[in-house]
Amino acid sequence: MRKKIVAGNWKMNKTLQEGVAFSNDLKELLAGKTINCEVVVGAPFIHLSEVAKNFEGTQVHVAAQDCANKESGAYTGEISAAMVASTGANHVILGHSERRAYYHETAELLKEKVELALANKLTPIFCVGEVLEERESGKHFEVVAAQIKDSLFELSKEDFSKLVVAYEPVWAIGTGKTASADQAQEIHAFIRKTIAEKYGQEVADNTSILYGGSCNAGNAKELFSNPDVDGGLIGGASLEADKFLPIIEAFN
Ligand code: PGA
Repeated sequence: MRKKIVAGNWKMNKTLQEGVAFSNDLKELLAGKTINCEVVVGAPFIHLSEVAKNFEGTQVHVAAQDCANKESGAYTGEISAAMVASTGANHVILGHSERRAYYHETAELLKEKVELALANKLTPIFCVGEVLEERESGKHFEVVAAQIKDSLFELSKEDFSKLVVAYEPVWAIGTGKTASADQAQEIHAFIRKTIAEKYGQEVADNTSILYGGSCNAGNAKELFSNPDVDGGLIGGASLEADKFLPIIEAFN
């Protein structure tokens, strides 16, 4: 059956030293505890190697927040999937709404990134989600289905089975507004059905679908108790280990 996952996304926060301090804090807080989900920390590129080293031998995995859509070569400033993998990170967040909106990442570009991530044995955490106007005009199902189909549906069944999907309504990210448990369940079930129609029920049932958008210690338990919500992608509340821990423990 699919994994339960709590993944943090630091975005562009924390110096290297602060990132290392966080990993020490989280390691300490988790020591000796029974954890019923996979834990992932999404750190900036320059932190990956140190943070991954620090979490070695623990249950915590490390994710990059992006990778390049090219394998290697003359792409100044870019970081390839192979480079990410060489740090010890084993996940990569792709298609976050901030990257789609501010860096104009298209479905086609994301398709290339997903393929390179998989080729380098990274688990993509592929983000989808509608903006407020789309939700208000009832287009959210169509928008989310298109984001999934346009970037992921050329993958083989085997490759699709390796990825994690994160549903993050853009209107809930960093706003303090969360989708209600019912809204989350409704669209997560729709995403699973969309996957089932393409890859079959077994693949759909084994795909972890995370909720993201103002998820915190206060609402995680209710959101995660929905049958199709398999965990969360956490921004603001993942920045301090003692705020992140209760979200992880929402599965206990
Ligand atoms: P937030 O961010 O938890 O701060 O709303 C979530 C995300 O963007 O992944």
